[in-house]
Amino acid sequence: MEDTSLLWLLFLTSLLSCPTNQASLTVSPSSSQMFKEQPVSLSCEEDDSSAGWTLRRNTTRKTRAECKDWGGISAGSSCNISYISPSDSGVYWCESREGATSNSINITVTGGPVILQSPVLPVMEGEDLTLLCKTKWSSNLPAGFYKDGSFIRTEPAGHMTIHHVSRSDEGLYKCLISSVGESPPSWVSVTGEEVTFDFRSSFIQIFT
Ligand SMILES: *[C@@H]1O[C@H](CO)[C@@H](O)[C@H](O)[C@H]1NC(C)=O
Repeated sequence: MEDTSLLWLLFLTSLLSCPTNQASLTVSPSSSQMFKEQPVSLSCEEDDSSAGWTLRRNTTRKTRAECKDWGGISAGSSCNISYISPSDSGVYWCESREGATSNSINITVTGGPVILQSPVLPVMEGEDLTLLCKTKWSSNLPAGFYKDGSFIRTEPAGHMTIHHVSRSDEGLYKCLISSVGESPPSWVSVTGEEVTFDFRSSFIQIFT
């Protein structure tokens, strides 16, 4: 029993002394789909710049590529692309020198006439999800929305809101504007409510 307690103490002390080294990736415009030839800016928002956060991406051409590899203009831990192209489609994330990673963002760049604007980050259970279907020139045309290949409904002004999302709303969405075209599909993920575990209070509970 004494030995077990000592091991727990060592284990919890190591957790407590672990530095919280985090970054989150943001993208502007904040959309998982984009039309080609538009400017895009990606940024690692970090709480400790000394950790040396680098923006990386995986595309079909190259994995773990850095901003300078893909012709972006890098400024600190941000990267600006002046004309995004379909070959820039892929998954983007920030990585520290020690290998810690941020959230990752999937970006689809299309040369087609329609995009679906969906959230780049997972939607929390119970929140509202708004999807916008647009052409380059107009964002209020009637649009049909699809999930996992099945038609949901037509919205007269091009945007669809799902209230109080649940896990079952997670899936692959796309939209269609008749006589213009269809968007690429994008995955929308739904996460449960955030649970934070306080090591300090559990420490106190075990040892008092
Ligand atoms: C990027 O590609 C590497 C090598 O294939 C893989 O190990 C890694 O999981 C990928 N990262 C993401 C965020 O998909």
